[in-house]
Amino acid sequence: MIEPYIELDDVSFAYERCAPVIGGLSLKLYKEQFTAITGPNGSGKTTLGKIMTGILRPQKGCVIICGRDSAGMKLGEIGQRIGYLFQNPGLQIFAPSVQEEISFALGLKGCSKEEIDSRVSRSLRDFDLTNLSDAFPFKLSRGEKQRLAIAAVLVNKPDFLILDEPTTGLDMERRRALSDILLGLKEKGIGMAVISHDRVFIDRLADRTIKMHGGEIVEDRT
Ligand SMILES: Nc1ncnc2c1ncn2[C@@H]1O[C@H](COP(=O)(O)OP(=O)(O)O)[C@@H](O)[C@H]1O
Ligand SMILES: [Mg+2]
Repeated sequence: MIEPYIELDDVSFAYERCAPVIGGLSLKLYKEQFTAITGPNGSGKTTLGKIMTGILRPQKGCVIICGRDSAGMKLGEIGQRIGYLFQNPGLQIFAPSVQEEISFALGLKGCSKEEIDSRVSRSLRDFDLTNLSDAFPFKLSRGEKQRLAIAAVLVNKPDFLILDEPTTGLDMERRRALSDILLGLKEKGIGMAVISHDRVFIDRLADRTIKMHGGEIVEDRT
């Protein structure tokens, strides 16, 4: 194992005017190790994911990304390396059509029209969204929104992915399809931390399982 991709050093976090939900947590995540994060509701998994991506900033301790203290990094800078899927995919969807949702970030990056078209159509195919390419995202079902949100994160080709409960709203066949896609990404060397309760899904993918309880890591198995 080389350098950790994301390192948390003695991180504590509390929401405004609330008791701490993460207390003195230290953790190293490696690109080479597909990591599953499990634990009961309210144990701090979503909060931890948001801290790792800079959406929430810890009051104590530091988050080091690729060897750099992320306190000095802007959200967009972290976002170029780490892709993040919200637990509620509706929160990250904003474009007027499915294909624009996927192409948006590529346009910002200055990709050519040909490159955008080819990456978007590939992504639509991978996530079985081709027939919905012109649909209004807010009218999609929970599972379709979930697939769209994942497609929009992946099209940016992040180095590391953090997915919060990615199989929610997906039927067996779609879970299998997502798991195939993630296995393919893993083989390409993309790092992954997946928050999930879905045992079948996790068991097929994870090299390491971290269990949280009360804002702490209570188990870390490789
Ligand atoms: N925006 C918020 N404001 C205040 N408390 C919150 C907020 N979001 C989550 N919490 C609390 O933080 C704790 C951890 O929540 P969360 O990270 O969502 O856990 P999990 O993802 O494991 O279910 C819970 O007690 C939850 O009620
Ligand atoms: Mg959660």
